[in-house]
Amino acid sequence: MSVNQVMVIGAGQMGAGIAQVFAQSGLKVKLNDMNEEALNKGITGIEKRLQRVVDKGKLTADEQAKANELLSGTTDLNDASDCDLVIEAVVENMDVKTKVFQSLDEITPAHAILASNTSSLPITEIAAVTKRPSQVIGMHFMNPVPVMKLVEIIRAIQTSDETYQVIEEMTKKLNKAPVEVNDLPGFAANRILMPMINEAIFAVHEGVASVEDVDTVMKLGMNHPMGPLTLADFIGLDTCLYIMEVLHDGFGDSKYRPCPLLRQYVKAGWLGKKSGRGFYSYE
Ligand code: NAI
Repeated sequence: MSVNQVMVIGAGQMGAGIAQVFAQSGLKVKLNDMNEEALNKGITGIEKRLQRVVDKGKLTADEQAKANELLSGTTDLNDASDCDLVIEAVVENMDVKTKVFQSLDEITPAHAILASNTSSLPITEIAAVTKRPSQVIGMHFMNPVPVMKLVEIIRAIQTSDETYQVIEEMTKKLNKAPVEVNDLPGFAANRILMPMINEAIFAVHEGVASVEDVDTVMKLGMNHPMGPLTLADFIGLDTCLYIMEVLHDGFGDSKYRPCPLLRQYVKAGWLGKKSGRGFYSYE
């Protein structure tokens, strides 16, 4: 199966990044958002980022023009009717995602593959709401998408080998590194990363070390490019809490219990960089 036309649904930070990478790799991509303002913001963001890459000398003006030409925006999901691959990157909410997949199942051609960029929801459950579960798969990009090399490809229990192969090849075409992962809570990346972040929060909560010192330990001691608490602020503390809850519910193991301090920050509305305050202040 060849993929000629792609649609990315959700023009937020992830969806816009994913659409950019497809356009830069020479693929026709439609970016969809139900909110026109969000769509315009997504498209403008892509154009600005492409300009920055040109300014840095990493993309020619011709390549930039080509990428801009390959990219289009739409608020109409029916425009997925000629798409071979659709990647959903809407809000992390099962009801919203299942509705999107049910609509896509009606709209897209029978051969189309439907992928989700979810960071924590079960692909198996998403696949089950469609009439083409063998063509549903997880394609978990990392943030910021144009920079980060990894894509976790998540096989639902129903995903066919053919679907997996098409997505693996596509990932390589995007100049990304695919990793095959089975559909268990947190997949691989968040199952490993989030308990580390949660433990860093426990260390602060229990007075082991200050926020800055916990980050310094991991940066200078473990050579991490960024401390876990800085990273948590970037990801969003609400997202971190949500993923810990997915791990805790999914495995029923107390080692995944979210730190009470994380819960408190989220209740206070201290969600990290996006809200101006988390473990650090961004005002
Ligand atoms: P975001 O909140 O920045 O963007 C979501 C966009 O989806 C919004 O523009 C919203 O208007 C749109 N949307 C909501 N419902 C829609 C619908 N029914 N149809 C069309 N558009 C709709 O969210 P973000 O951060 O880009 O996350 C998107 C997905 O990517 C989530 O599933 C998240 O778990 C996943 N993800 C997020 C990462 C991150 O670091 N933010 C990393 C990896 C995955």
